[in-house]
Amino acid sequence: MAFATRPRPPKPARPPAAADVARPSLVGLLWRSTVGKKTVMAVTGLAMLGYLVAHMLGNLKIFFGPEDFNGYAAWLRTIGSPLLHHEWFLWIARVALVASVVLHAVAAYQLSRRDLAARPTQYRRRRQRASYATRTMRWGGVILGLFLVWHILDLTTLTVNPNAVHGRPYENVVASFSTWYGGGIYIVAVLALCLHVRHGFWSAAQTLGANNARRDKALKTVAATLSAALTIGFLSVPVAVMTGWVS
Ligand code: HEM
Repeated sequence: MAFATRPRPPKPARPPAAADVARPSLVGLLWRSTVGKKTVMAVTGLAMLGYLVAHMLGNLKIFFGPEDFNGYAAWLRTIGSPLLHHEWFLWIARVALVASVVLHAVAAYQLSRRDLAARPTQYRRRRQRASYATRTMRWGGVILGLFLVWHILDLTTLTVNPNAVHGRPYENVVASFSTWYGGGIYIVAVLALCLHVRHGFWSAAQTLGANNARRDKALKTVAATLSAALTIGFLSVPVAVMTGWVS
């Protein structure tokens, strides 16, 4: 006698073993979150700010003449010696700076895309304008990025510099600021930098939780003082060359 076989119910799918599931790393999770991207912007922004304060103070050596300024540029190449080989410190700083600029710009771009996507459709269709501070930060960032390319071609690789003598940064700076476009480009970039640092420092403090009602006023004063000092310090060099004080 043949027995009718009942179809067996399908086996329940085995839940994937913990090891099979690709878990994002802590760094990956941080980078994907909005607060993580803002933290990356704050930390890289503060690192670049530290570099700018040192760079502005170093630039002021131009007021002490070519020997002082060129000697200072030569010394930059020997930092860390004899532990570090010639220019190694400079290259480490360059790599850190490029990484900061790229991370800062990518996080800014992704945050602004996220901000746009989160808005209701009718706002997007009407192209609702971002706030004044947001627009200033975006355009300021783009101007500073373009300026950096110019600046490196002008004073590091000397590709567009009218003097272009390696090891003579004093003469190269004077030659660059002696042209109307050279001085003009620096003045526009430094003004953009002033607005960017003022608002950026304040945002970074908020992201890193350094502010509270009592500290707000002090932080605003620090942001305004820092951006004013950088603006005056950086502007003093092209203005001094354009007025003939430094030649
Ligand atoms: C008007 C003021 C400025 C002057 C006179 C000046 C001068 C110079 C000089 C001479 C160098 C070449 C250093 C060397 O190779 O020995 C340099 C490099 C550089 N500067 Fe400036 N700078 C000014 C403003 C700025 C500003 C506003 C920024 C940023 C927003 C900036 C960022 C840089 C960077 C990233 C380098 C590349 C360093 C390297 O790898 O060689 N500078 N600057």
